[in-house]
Amino acid sequence: MTALERLDQPESVAIETIELPLLLKAIYQRYGYDLRDYAVASLMRRIRRAMTLEKLATLSAFQERVLREAACMARFLDVLSVDVSAMFRDPGVYQVFRDKVVPGLRGLPLVRVWHAGCCTGEEVYSMAILLHEAGLLGKTKLYATDINERVLAKGRGAIFPLKRMREYTGNYQHSGGLAQFSDYYAAKHEGAIMRDFLRGNIVWATHNLVTDSSFNEFHVILCRNVMIYFNRELQARVHKLLYQSLAPGGVLWLGAGESLRFTPFEDRYDVVDEAGKLYRKAS
Ligand SMILES: C[S@@+](CC[C@H](N)C(=O)[O-])C[C@H]1O[C@@H](n2cnc3c(N)ncnc32)[C@H](O)[C@@H]1O
Repeated sequence: MTALERLDQPESVAIETIELPLLLKAIYQRYGYDLRDYAVASLMRRIRRAMTLEKLATLSAFQERVLREAACMARFLDVLSVDVSAMFRDPGVYQVFRDKVVPGLRGLPLVRVWHAGCCTGEEVYSMAILLHEAGLLGKTKLYATDINERVLAKGRGAIFPLKRMREYTGNYQHSGGLAQFSDYYAAKHEGAIMRDFLRGNIVWATHNLVTDSSFNEFHVILCRNVMIYFNRELQARVHKLLYQSLAPGGVLWLGAGESLRFTPFEDRYDVVDEAGKLYRKAS
């Protein structure tokens, strides 16, 4: 945008178009989190929420605090994480996964699954339960990663709000679950503590999809409801990383509102289930 075009906008908007790139550059230089290719509208919504929590009125004031206080950056990351997740989210796709993907995993000596952007880990425990019921959990390693260490700590802690278990029980039943969902947790006070045998094969680690590279070769990668926050160029870069991290014949599982269509990698996968956003890397 030119300086003259900026003058045509209301003053506060014009100032924010100057402030936003400065804020994002400052965060990158100070902390290494590169948010510059996140989709602007949703990023701005999150920044405004963070500013309200910090009781700050301008992006410049927010920049000053975030630069000087690492704790402010941590709080901002929490807002960015929007820890909205659920066990057996989109339950029908778990049934498709059981039917169309699990058979291909049976012959492998070791199965590696990567949950990229796993937030507080509901998705990871759902997968652990599914693989347990398929008799595959013992030979599987689940890598649960997110940009935000604080959400990972919650996942590692394996305690979820008891009040959500009714919803999760319904999801589990619709996902083709073979047992009682209550077999998988112990209720204590307000919490549901996931059973130890589900936790043993999970590795929790921070990983930034924007700036970190591939760290293994996986048979399944879930990257669900993460790339919706990225702009098109960043989505393409992350798709490259995911593609490079998948074994031939490996399966990519995206979120309900996401798709491989119109990405540069569209032709490198076969569709397992378009509605469920399950794709198999062509070998
Ligand atoms: C809406 S949650 C999705 C959680 C889970 N995958 C699901 O679908 O229920 C999005 C997650 O992406 C994470 N995230 C955002 N940017 C990321 C990045 N650059 N690298 C890794 N994770 C990121 C956020 O911290 C958040 O936990």
